[in-house]
Amino acid sequence: METAWMDKIERVVISADEIARRVRDLGREIAADYRGGAGRDPRRRPLLVVGILKGAMPFMADLIRALDLAIEYDFMAVSSYGNGTSPGEVRILKDLDCAIGGRDVLLVEDIVDTGHTLHHLLAGLSARGPATLRVCTLLDKPHRREVEVTVDYVGFVLPENLFVVGYGLDYAEVYRNLPFVAILKPECIRDG
Ligand code: IMP
Repeated sequence: METAWMDKIERVVISADEIARRVRDLGREIAADYRGGAGRDPRRRPLLVVGILKGAMPFMADLIRALDLAIEYDFMAVSSYGNGTSPGEVRILKDLDCAIGGRDVLLVEDIVDTGHTLHHLLAGLSARGPATLRVCTLLDKPHRREVEVTVDYVGFVLPENLFVVGYGLDYAEVYRNLPFVAILKPECIRDG
């Protein structure tokens, strides 16, 4: 890897090994929950896993391969452009290719921070009448929440008010391909 690029990392918060172990465990837990459990009708179509682009891509790719379960997957792309009057308003850049009425849907997110993005997504998707709608996020910052959202599966809770990059998470679109979650050196983050 390019040294100058890696030099911008202050410290690794979650290593690639820790991520791999947690993703395996989440995969087991999720597969067990959907494998006919929780009153699930076995005649229902396979679980639809929905990844939220761009951040969830690496996590989603690993998570679906940890699911010992028949699934389908699809993606949505959203952009948050919150401001004072409409905090966390979410614009859909790419919608699902398929209908979700009557289906089991699992939303996969990179991180839940204020909760606004997830809140808007869940409201929009619930209106389409899925049989079930659950959420799995790699990272959670519960102390930053501004709206209440239910998150069913959490990879890691970030203990402090950290801005992290890597494994899908970006700073100005860079660092998404780091195999670990890290914080940047303060001098690498512009104010505002
Ligand atoms: P929320 O709507 O405030 O929950 O924010 C969700 C979005 O904010 C995420 O999908 C990320 O794009 C971004 N975000 C929040 N915290 C971080 C972080 O620590 N690193 C990178 N992006 C973040």
